[in-house]
Amino acid sequence: MSTIYILNGPNLNLLGKREPEIYGHDTLADVEAMCREAAPEGVDIVFRQSNHEGVLVDWVQEAREAADAIVINPAAYTHTSVAILDALSAFEGPVVEVHISDVHKREKFRHHSYVSQRADEVIVGRGVQGYVDGLAWAVEKL
Ligand code: DQA
Repeated sequence: MSTIYILNGPNLNLLGKREPEIYGHDTLADVEAMCREAAPEGVDIVFRQSNHEGVLVDWVQEAREAADAIVINPAAYTHTSVAILDALSAFEGPVVEVHISDVHKREKFRHHSYVSQRADEVIVGRGVQGYVDGLAWAVEKL
């Protein structure tokens, strides 16, 4: 049995309502259902969202003991958070960074990701399918 943490940062609780022209119409509950559906037998999914940087840091630290891989969409903290980068650097398993939108084709401040410095795989611009692809990548690595 392996465990994969799928962690979501700020404002992703509004998925489906928030700027649907950028992020689409699926809700975060839909994304969770897609991931659970896609997870092969023997892979346990822990799916969480927080608007708070420190909570995300706590979950990444918790994953050191509890998870084999992390799939993370740090949302806006991608572009600001050394704390999340440091927490991920202390995690030994595979890390996949996912962004629903193509951050490289958006505002300049979204082009830089602290998290990419640690991520083993980065998936951008595939919509919510990026989560399923990220999960598949992590499963393959385990
Ligand atoms: C995002 C991209 C970030 O720049 C933004 O702050 C988000 C979502 C994405 O999934 O495309 O909240 O991570």
